[in-house]
Amino acid sequence: MTGGYGKGPDILHDCTIAVNPGEIAVIVGPNGAGKSTAMKAVFGMLNVRSGRVVLDGEDITALSPQARVVKGMGFVPQVRNIFPSMTVEENLEMGAFIRKDDIRGTMEQVYDLFPILRDKRYQAAGELSGGQRQQVAVGRALMTKPKVLMLDEPTAGVSPIVMDELFDRIIEVSRTGIPILMVEQNAKQALNIADRAYVLVQGANAHTGTGKELLADPEVRASFLGG
Ligand SMILES: Nc1ncnc2c1ncn2[C@@H]1O[C@H](COP(=O)(O)OP(=O)(O)O)[C@@H](O)[C@H]1O
Ligand SMILES: [Mg+2]
Repeated sequence: MTGGYGKGPDILHDCTIAVNPGEIAVIVGPNGAGKSTAMKAVFGMLNVRSGRVVLDGEDITALSPQARVVKGMGFVPQVRNIFPSMTVEENLEMGAFIRKDDIRGTMEQVYDLFPILRDKRYQAAGELSGGQRQQVAVGRALMTKPKVLMLDEPTAGVSPIVMDELFDRIIEVSRTGIPILMVEQNAKQALNIADRAYVLVQGANAHTGTGKELLADPEVRASFLGG
């Protein structure tokens, strides 16, 4: 993908990111590298000037974000990813807006994955802790029963303990058969669980490999992992 915002300059330069069935793919890189921009491009929120986005072999580059949700993309953006004044349960219901079938089974699955959300289902989502709000955001995205789940910094602003718990839940989601494409600032921890990993720098791919390969790469270690 190559493209930028509106009529502005290109932010992404021949950037390639992908996730295969059964995988967790992780994108790391410095602030401002274009990680969120790349996720937005995959979700159809950016003007992709060249390149393409493919889901299950189908070219979806021309589709709106809404149409991509219908095709099976679940996306949790980095910011404004919940409706703070709505209850937890209303947030989950909003997530299911495209569905016409019975959503209660999926809601129970989300509550089984994040039991604290069941306890707080009638509370305004904005009153929850940072880690709980991220659970609402992930749960909201799961309500469409996505074929692929995209998460932009799901552990931003949470304590190390909550981060470990969120990672465990993300691994659990991936074991249910949903591939996960995730941006993370906690690079070491994220690379540890990554089947596929990318370092983005200035909108371009700088390093690609398995998480273990990038963790062992001296250049990646020196530049991005603090040695
Ligand atoms: N909505 C926007 N409009 C214009 N430029 C933006 C917008 N969002 C981000 N940018 C620019 O795109 C570049 C990459 O930002 P971003 O994708 O948010 O980086 P990262 O997620 O890796 O920290 C930055 O230079 C940023 O200023
Ligand atoms: Mg970002």
